Amino acid sequence: MTILITGGAGYIGSHCCVTFLEAGHDVVVVDNFSNSSPESLNRVASITGRKIAFEEADIRDRTALERILKTHQCSGVIHFAGLKAVGESTEIPLEYYANNVTGTLELLAAMNACDVRQLIFSSSATVYGEPQFLPLTEDHPLSATNPYGRTKLMIEDILRDLAASDPRWRFGILRYFNPVGAHKSGLIGEDPRGIPNNLMPFVSQVASGRRDQLSVFGNDYDTRDGTGVRDYIHVVDLVEGHLRAHEALAALTDETNSFTVNLGTGTGYSVLEMVKAFERASNQKIPYEIAPRRAGDVAEVYADTKAAEAKLNWSAERGLEDMCSDTWNWACKNPKGYEASDG
Ligand code: NAD
Ligand code: UFG
Repeated sequence: MTILITGGAGYIGSHCCVTFLEAGHDVVVVDNFSNSSPESLNRVASITGRKIAFEEADIRDRTALERILKTHQCSGVIHFAGLKAVGESTEIPLEYYANNVTGTLELLAAMNACDVRQLIFSSSATVYGEPQFLPLTEDHPLSATNPYGRTKLMIEDILRDLAASDPRWRFGILRYFNPVGAHKSGLIGEDPRGIPNNLMPFVSQVASGRRDQLSVFGNDYDTRDGTGVRDYIHVVDLVEGHLRAHEALAALTDETNSFTVNLGTGTGYSVLEMVKAFERASNQKIPYEIAPRRAGDVAEVYADTKAAEAKLNWSAERGLEDMCSDTWNWACKNPKGYEASDG
């Protein structure tokens, strides 16, 4: 049986393909390449030595999804496809609701029609809103402050409603903290288009000389050095969490047919600690300036990891050094991301 991976050509999806292929699973990727390149799938094939099936399609195309689910005899879905930039979501909210919410609804309808009722969903720590206590446990109150976050919350609610309505469904909702790093080979990694929004890709581009300096968004937060603290998790640890989640879905019952867990390390690092760690890993100086706070940012976010340990028998293994050195290895080997290989 084959697992359908939506958004499998993207940053996390491509690493997930490697982990699942290496664990002996068959996968088929559906991606519209709106934020990725087919080259990432060639690289997945190089790493694993296995040919990878992929179908270029939009997840809003229910007919295409039904055909793909049937043709590849899929038994379950890992659902990464969607738009993910918080700032952009405030500018083009309809695109976010259409891709993320409508896309998920079409996917679920196609799955239902094909009797495939097992799904792992990429949610985000953004659904916790402003933390009321730390570490964040899965029962922390949920809220959203931007359209991107609202799409994640809406999809979670849809999955919870569906799980309650029909015991045949099996859902694993995974709330990611801050995925960083790249595969050890340096063949796949994060390849943002334009100016990176996120800290690690920006720092990496400063280290490689593509950008002059980092703007540190605020140094007057109530944190140990005044800069924002986040729970960075190595992308390979993150996708190994998906493999454990896939196994855990099989153990669910009609009475308890879903779970929701955080995927983080439980440890937070500040922006300046990340900069220092990256300087050590890359042996490059990272010039920075202190800039005003970024709208919508919170001071500190990190996960409680007990539920993941108990329900998935999983915890993150890779530390900050690996996160930085693997990011740097990917950046050095692919100074223009996948672009140079796109032809
Ligand atoms: P990504 O943009 O690299 O990957 C998403 C993939 O989905 C891309 O390949 C894109 O082309 C594809 N896609 C987008 N809309 C599509 C559509 N309508 N039909 C078919 N394919 C479509 O992003 P990522 O970092 O790999 O994130 C994967 C998932 O994890 C997303 O749902 C994201 O919201 C979630 N997430 C990411 C982070 C993060 O920091 N990277 C944090 C929390 C949650
Ligand atoms: N930061 C800077 N300068 C930059 C970029 C970021 O100082 O150029 C700071 C931010 O202010 C924050 C930290 O670095 O304190 C991390 O910022 P990121 O943009 O890398 O990550 P966020 O925590 O803001 O958000 C990310 C994803 C969201 C997801 C969230 C889950 O972008 O989609 O993690 O925790 F919802």
